[in-house]
Amino acid sequence: MSADGGGRTCAGRPTTNFVSAGTRFIVDARYELIKAIGHGAYGVVVSARDNDTGGKVAIKKIPCVFEDAVDAKRVLREIKLLRHFRHDNIIGLIDLQPPPTAVLADFVDIYMVFELLETDMQRVISSRQVLSEDHIKYFVYQLLRGVKGLHSAGVIHRDLKPSNLLLNADCDLKVCDLGLARGITRSERGSAADLTPRKSASSKTGQDGGTGVAEEEEPDQTGSELLTEYVVTRWYRAPEIMLSCSEYTRAVDMWAVGCIITELYLRKTLFPGKDYIHQLRLIADVCGTPPDEELNFVKSKKARRFMSDMRRREPRDFRELLPTASAEAIDMITRLLVWHPERRMTAVEALRHPCVLLLLSLRACPHARISASCCDTCAYLPA
Ligand SMILES: Nc1ncnc2c1ncn2[C@@H]1O[C@H](COP(=O)(O)OP(=O)(O)OP(=O)(O)O)[C@@H](O)[C@H]1O
Ligand SMILES: [Mg+2]
Repeated sequence: MSADGGGRTCAGRPTTNFVSAGTRFIVDARYELIKAIGHGAYGVVVSARDNDTGGKVAIKKIPCVFEDAVDAKRVLREIKLLRHFRHDNIIGLIDLQPPPTAVLADFVDIYMVFELLETDMQRVISSRQVLSEDHIKYFVYQLLRGVKGLHSAGVIHRDLKPSNLLLNADCDLKVCDLGLARGITRSERGSAADLTPRKSASSKTGQDGGTGVAEEEEPDQTGSELLTEYVVTRWYRAPEIMLSCSEYTRAVDMWAVGCIITELYLRKTLFPGKDYIHQLRLIADVCGTPPDEELNFVKSKKARRFMSDMRRREPRDFRELLPTASAEAIDMITRLLVWHPERRMTAVEALRHPCVLLLLSLRACPHARISASCCDTCAYLPA
């Protein structure tokens, strides 16, 4: 890690120049490097002191952003969405660095400045930190609020997983990484064709089931064209995505929420599939094979046949799988890990579930929208 003096941005502000985790950062001189804190498929993230405010921030560098039009659009979409949200449980974008010079060719990297949180849920799950039922319920409550905030704005996150949930020592939770999020405008549904892989991503199959690039390399074990081309991290991916449904809904996020809650109790991934087929088999081992009438959401004949040919399995009893979980938590998980997307609980329904209802009723709506329905901004529901 090193730092040295820099030049000026095109806005005339002095810049500083440092290398962290092998990546050079050129940012406004008000930011002073603290340390590298993470890296994902897209960029390197560092923590920094903001000498103008005295606070701390996280800076994510997305290098060479204009080399690929698909990636560039994705980053633009992420920025636009982040600028839209002001929500306790969605990460706040504080600043975007201006281009380093007025010369267009010099504008190659994007630096996004976020509020800084201390860690992410992936790290907590793999640490020795004890997680009580109360901890878990508080995380779940905040996760549902964040998801409700996204969904009520017509946005599907599409990549919910523990490493995209940031946490503070006081248990605050914020959803981050809207890199794959999409707005749904005219109808509830989006097209699965949107789910193309991140082109510049390095594959990370070991960590969390990988992203798009890893998927492209996977052999198609069914010999069909059905199970191709999806990107949402495999281990948290809803069955309808793998079953080649051409439409996806907010329910894909709710499947991921079910996987995440289970992982908080298990302290390991529920469905660590090695490929699409293995992923579906692991799901069937726990949720049971769905009866044919439950598969009417699968439009493709080949995918339906694949499911019908699967060896029949009964659903496992979640009480045995998660002996430390309360009855309410088990009930919530059972209503989330449902094959049929339309029968899966929505974020609003989940926030009304006894598992988190007490937390919800303890909290006043900061938007003063206390009515029979819930406040779309903060997900407040009257007790
Ligand atoms: N604001 C923040 N505060 C603290 N840590 C953060 C912050 N933003 C990101 N991180 C850390 O950096 C990691 C990568 O960030 P992020 O998920 O935004 O990048 P990405 O490249 O889009 O990741 P992915 O591999 O999920 O696509 C996070 O998992 C988290 O550990
Ligand atoms: Mg991420």
